[in-house]
Amino acid sequence: MLNNLPGNIFLAPMAGFTDTAFRIICIRSGAALVFTEMVSAEAVTRGNRKTFDLLQRGREEQFWGIQLFGSDAGVIAKAISIIRSANPSVIDLNCGCSVPKVIKTGSGAALLKNPGKLYSIVLAMTESAGIPVSVKIRSGWDAASINFTEIGKAAEEAGASAVMFHPRTKSQGFSGRASWNHIALLKKCLKIPVIGSGDVFSRKDADKMFKETSADGVLIARGAIGNPFIFDKKYNDKKPDYNYILFTALEHVKTAVQYKGEYRACRDLRKHITAYSKGLPESASFRNRIVHASSLEDYEKIIKEYAAQLNTGSVKFLLQNGDK
Ligand SMILES: Cc1cc2nc3c(=O)[nH]c(=O)nc-3n(C[C@H](O)[C@H](O)[C@H](O)COP(=O)(O)O)c2cc1C
Repeated sequence: MLNNLPGNIFLAPMAGFTDTAFRIICIRSGAALVFTEMVSAEAVTRGNRKTFDLLQRGREEQFWGIQLFGSDAGVIAKAISIIRSANPSVIDLNCGCSVPKVIKTGSGAALLKNPGKLYSIVLAMTESAGIPVSVKIRSGWDAASINFTEIGKAAEEAGASAVMFHPRTKSQGFSGRASWNHIALLKKCLKIPVIGSGDVFSRKDADKMFKETSADGVLIARGAIGNPFIFDKKYNDKKPDYNYILFTALEHVKTAVQYKGEYRACRDLRKHITAYSKGLPESASFRNRIVHASSLEDYEKIIKEYAAQLNTGSVKFLLQNGDK
């Protein structure tokens, strides 16, 4: 699965964030593979229009993965037969989501409690997909039931091409630190590639994860929000010049409008565009204005005015003196 990719640092699936526009922005910055947010297999089979919006493939998306969630092998196989025409590079099965609505249906992290079921779902996927299948897992349900090696082997035996691994338990949610030692252990147990996820907020973190775990790839989730530059080797953890940051934010807005239409894009963009200003001077007033933006014109005006503000007067002085 990883052989044809242009690199080994990927954009992780993130519900509410990894839409077409954000994936494209991350690809332009150098993400070697990007993932949709988790998509309900059942909604795909029902032909739900909103679900198909989540599966919109951008023109620049050469290497992209679709992540499905579900608990019924037949439904998932049917969903795959429908989405196959979108030609994903990989189809991932979500076995890590801890949202109660998802768990209740036996999907997401609930599958960690049932390796036999996980095996039969992955088998149905690999037999029907004709496309590489990956499985995204956590360390286990809770501290008393850590079973990632069993789960990883079940995925491998069922024909998965890779395991993507966020080494926290379902009970942990996002608390504490990701147990990278679990990634190193899983890597020793499996022949298929293991892709690590969790607490990578810089290139340095990614290098450290590769070194400490021997992972075959690294997924970045939270660290890419407002910071697609994390994928760009040339910045090597230095933030680009603020004009380029704001230029990218504006490109992000324009791309989202192109794919989602102005109304929906402008509503969904606020959380992304506010994040671009993290660490920049006088960003609080920029964020206060962005949360009220509701048209492309609003976004353009606020971003350009902020750039002008950064390029003049006291703010420029602060920046030139390294006070970021
Ligand atoms: C807002 C948000 C949404 C997420 N949605 C998904 C999802 O749809 N599917 C999934 O497998 N993981 C999802 N995750 C988990 C991430 O893919 C990733 O494994 C986790 O955030 C740890 O990586 P990080 O420390 O780089 O954020 C989500 C995480 C966040 C923060």
